[in-house]
Amino acid sequence: MKKIINDLAVFISGEENLKSIIFVHGFPYDHQMWQPQIEELKKDYFCVSYDIRGLGESPANDGQFTMESFVDDLERIVDELKLYKPVLCGLSMGGYISLRAMERIQNKFSALILCDTKSEADNNEGKLKRASAIKQINSGMFGEFVETFVLNCFGEKFVRENNAEYRKVVDRSKKNSPNGVKGCLLAMAGRTDTTENLKNIKLPALIICGSEDKLSPPSVMKSMSDKIPNAKFVIIKEAGHMTPIEKPSEVGKAIKEFLLENN
Ligand code: MLT
Repeated sequence: MKKIINDLAVFISGEENLKSIIFVHGFPYDHQMWQPQIEELKKDYFCVSYDIRGLGESPANDGQFTMESFVDDLERIVDELKLYKPVLCGLSMGGYISLRAMERIQNKFSALILCDTKSEADNNEGKLKRASAIKQINSGMFGEFVETFVLNCFGEKFVRENNAEYRKVVDRSKKNSPNGVKGCLLAMAGRTDTTENLKNIKLPALIICGSEDKLSPPSVMKSMSDKIPNAKFVIIKEAGHMTPIEKPSEVGKAIKEFLLENN
């Protein structure tokens, strides 16, 4: 079922009285990326996903987003749906939002799942890459930007062996508003480094990483996981940065096991 909360498109599945999980997607994707896991978990959990402002069905408005406004949006959804200490599950940019939420509103959640993400902010090279992406989009090459960016996110094997599914993700990403995408790029470029706070995360945490992830590689994610006191680190073999799409059942299994262990 779809609801509009604070202008955002929010999607809910499962019984409201069950334990809740809120899923936050990556860039430049939308809530659909968590669909395989939601299908599997919705019998036992109240599953909430949403389109981050500027992406999917959520409006881009003036495109002036920050990581802070993304955390405000997450908090507003948790509050409006009256979710009692949901599990927070974020991939990549969704992970940046989740990690900042751990600094601001950790007590609103009961557990944390981080997929293919990192706590470090963009370095100078990263910031310059965001700037050239914006320049490329402004020069009318939005489609080309999406093609290149999404290709880099997926493992080569998935692109080769599941090309139709891969193309669907690319085409869906191209439907995003260019202004929304640029707003997300600026929000990511301006985000803070959340590494210092990892030691203060009191919640049980599951850290999932694709073995071939080029954007947040296993070495980076393992070092992040080691800094979180109660974290379990899981590598998903033969997957790139988009583990929930590339290896849906492996990711679903890791999440289910983690939730059972931390019931
Ligand atoms: C994502 O998947 O959300 C992005 O790759 C994150 C990023 O560009 O830093």
